[in-house]
Amino acid sequence: MDLNKNDLIIRVGGEGGEGVISVGDFITQACARVGLDVYTFKTFPAEIKGGYAMYQVRASTEPVYNHGDTFDVLCAFNGEAYEMNKARLKPGHALVYDCPGDFEPDIPEGVHAYPIPMTQTAKELNNVRAKNMVAMGALSVLFNIPEASLREVIETKFTRRGDAVVQGNLKAFERGQELARALKKTDSWAIGTPKADAKRDVIVMSGNNAIGLGALIAGLEFFSAYPITPATEVAIYVAKHLPKRGGTLIQAEDEIASISQVLGAAYAGKKSMTSTSGPGLSLMSEMLGMSFMSETPCVVVDVQRGGPSTGLPTKHEQSDLFLAIHGGHGDCGRIVLSVENVHDCIGLTVTAFNLAEKYQCPVILLSDGSLAFSTQSVPYPNPDDYKIVNRERWDGKGEFKRYALTASGISPMVDPGTPGGMHIATGLEHNESGMPSYAGENHEIMQAKRFNKLKTVANDMPLAEVDGQGAADIGVIAWGSTIGVVREALQRLRAEGCKVKGFYPKLLHPLPVQQFEDFGAGCKRILLPEVNYLGQLAHFVRAETSLRPESYTICGGLPFTPEMIVKRVKEMLA
Ligand code: COA
Repeated sequence: MDLNKNDLIIRVGGEGGEGVISVGDFITQACARVGLDVYTFKTFPAEIKGGYAMYQVRASTEPVYNHGDTFDVLCAFNGEAYEMNKARLKPGHALVYDCPGDFEPDIPEGVHAYPIPMTQTAKELNNVRAKNMVAMGALSVLFNIPEASLREVIETKFTRRGDAVVQGNLKAFERGQELARALKKTDSWAIGTPKADAKRDVIVMSGNNAIGLGALIAGLEFFSAYPITPATEVAIYVAKHLPKRGGTLIQAEDEIASISQVLGAAYAGKKSMTSTSGPGLSLMSEMLGMSFMSETPCVVVDVQRGGPSTGLPTKHEQSDLFLAIHGGHGDCGRIVLSVENVHDCIGLTVTAFNLAEKYQCPVILLSDGSLAFSTQSVPYPNPDDYKIVNRERWDGKGEFKRYALTASGISPMVDPGTPGGMHIATGLEHNESGMPSYAGENHEIMQAKRFNKLKTVANDMPLAEVDGQGAADIGVIAWGSTIGVVREALQRLRAEGCKVKGFYPKLLHPLPVQQFEDFGAGCKRILLPEVNYLGQLAHFVRAETSLRPESYTICGGLPFTPEMIVKRVKEMLA
């Protein structure tokens, strides 16, 4: 950490299969254990082995909302990692690199370079896998990464592979430390000292795991999914924990099967969910219609990735909003939520279940590739802090009409087998009892019933957050993980005296129109940055409100950085 920063950003780059991701994970865990706030970003190739893999850790004594503009310290395992990042190496940065390795860096002037024989040392130790541990040992000495915590996480991670693997890795780690101690440190970068009152009862989780945890807190009973990057870890997490609680998990043959199974289980009275990414959500669109038409609750998590088609499977994008809101045939309603950070991944997943149960419709929870793998420290969640909503069930009195026309549009459900509760649930249009009916007048009444009940969804959500007070020259609307980037950009702009405000909706459909209008009324101009080509949220805001946001879109597979937002806002102000 230098004097002007509260944080240190370390980027580790190398080849997929070299253990880059493990180094990043270990540093993150170690920093969180001593009370630092952490936020990470990783990107890796679509191949299992080979290609460029990168992990960036930001560790701070203050809260962090994103992975930062760029790194302070680069650790390059190979020539490709160096080439990918050398344009970002600026005077004052530190470079730790494999030497002798497969490259000889032309080190830019002013960069503090630390050659470490990573590959050679691992070979000398007869443990080529442990190249990454040599690098991590060196990083721990050079940048003050808490050694005891690192040793703990090494032991925890490798214990299941036996003592020889643990000891081999600790040895390589120690050797890396010795190699670094023999070098003269010329820079001032170091992990900061946590505040005395820093929270240590935190867990470090990825967005995907946090969604799994949120589902369990919400009372998940049935889960079915087909594996797809970057959503698979949601299923892996649920697979580990759901059966222990008596729940059921199925790996289905495809996404159509998985959502169909989810609807079947939900019809049978179980809280049910599936998780997927863009291509899978496309396949599910027919059954989203079934969920809406038959008023069967279901939660669908879409961890967005670069599209269209198979697109950029391991890269970040926020480009499924059109599909999430309008995917499907006919007039098909649903609720769409989007998460900002790992903490949200827990809470908004619970909300998604609550809304699905209450409104008996599909709820799509949008996450994204950056958040999927981003690990952050979050306060240890207490399930008792979350309000849980269950579906309204028939009280057994009088004649049961599954689709009874009520004032709210919500009709009580029954679990199959309930005496007197027999009914037909079908994708065909139906009357109040569930009997198929093709009468035009009935279709109009039933469509109105299904859509009217969604009009109050915004009342069940907290108001969208407004970041800043008073009138603003520029208002910035953001969604998903872009919110964290905008938060920091606005802090910097305010520190320079700019009048700026942010607006961070989590409910994207039905759009809380009045909240947008209220925010827009206090802003001279509005910027809407999002990671997609078409400016998808900007499109809906223009269509449904009187606001005319100026779109700022990127789709290069990476998230925005705070600096990009600061620059664009300043251009608007100028
Ligand atoms: N000693 C022993 N084992 C070690 C080790 C060490 N020193 N360092 C790492 N490993 C293990 C890790 O534990 C991990 O095994 P695990 O998954 O069983 O835990 C494995 O080696 C890979 O190491 P890791 O650090 O996690 O990843 P990496 O930086 O080497 O990168 C990936 C590999 C993750 C990029 C690659 O394997 C991958 O999964 N690519 C993405 C594939 C994909 O999703 N494609 C999309 C298809 S649509």
